[in-house]
Amino acid sequence: MSHGKSSCCGSSDSGIEISGRKNSESYFLQIAKKRYSVRKYAEKKVEAEKIDTIIEAGICSPTAANIQPYRILVIQTQEGIRKLSKGAETYGASSAFIICANIKEAWKRPFDGKITSDIDASIVTDHIMHAATDLGLGSLWMTYFKPDAIRENFNIPVEYEPVNILLVGYSADKEQSPDRHNKTRKSRDQIVINETF
Ligand SMILES: Cc1cc2nc3c(=O)[nH]c(=O)nc-3n(C[C@H](O)[C@H](O)[C@H](O)COP(=O)(O)O)c2cc1C
Repeated sequence: MSHGKSSCCGSSDSGIEISGRKNSESYFLQIAKKRYSVRKYAEKKVEAEKIDTIIEAGICSPTAANIQPYRILVIQTQEGIRKLSKGAETYGASSAFIICANIKEAWKRPFDGKITSDIDASIVTDHIMHAATDLGLGSLWMTYFKPDAIRENFNIPVEYEPVNILLVGYSADKEQSPDRHNKTRKSRDQIVINETF
């Protein structure tokens, strides 16, 4: 396994080398199964190169009409974590990302006016989250936070909404099995609708 710096959307030297894998075996599925919500973090700081790779993964995200109406607020200092704790749980994480979206800038569907800012911000959050897992880090996606306190403490301009907070750090939590999803998720039969409802 090597974890070098990957290049955005191009060839990558990061990640697990899976020798002799069949076409149907997905490296991404391994990462998706491995990830779990971490609510207890070790004190160890996340290396700057890893933060950089995580950000690069976020920037690769697709957004509606490629408008990219989001900003990634990166928190890596104790002072930043202290400010974050005024509006959210931090669980001892050494880093966090606040993914903000500009509602006015985001694409709007002309038929019903649906705005894609939350969707765009959440795709970025998802990319960041799985990139963190790939680098051996734990993470926690949070929407339970006080938006006003977060806005005030980080000077978030009025046109941006803090959509998601992602805590990232080295896990000190109980590791969850990658095979847990058949117990912790609805069954495939409940979820998948073939062809029509
Ligand atoms: C949109 C979203 C919001 C979430 N908000 C919170 C939150 O505010 N606090 C928290 O502890 N977990 C939060 N979670 C984590 C979920 O509770 C967790 O992903 C879910 O229970 C599945 O567990 P797993 O992540 O360990 O697989 C959130 C997850 C998502 C996707």
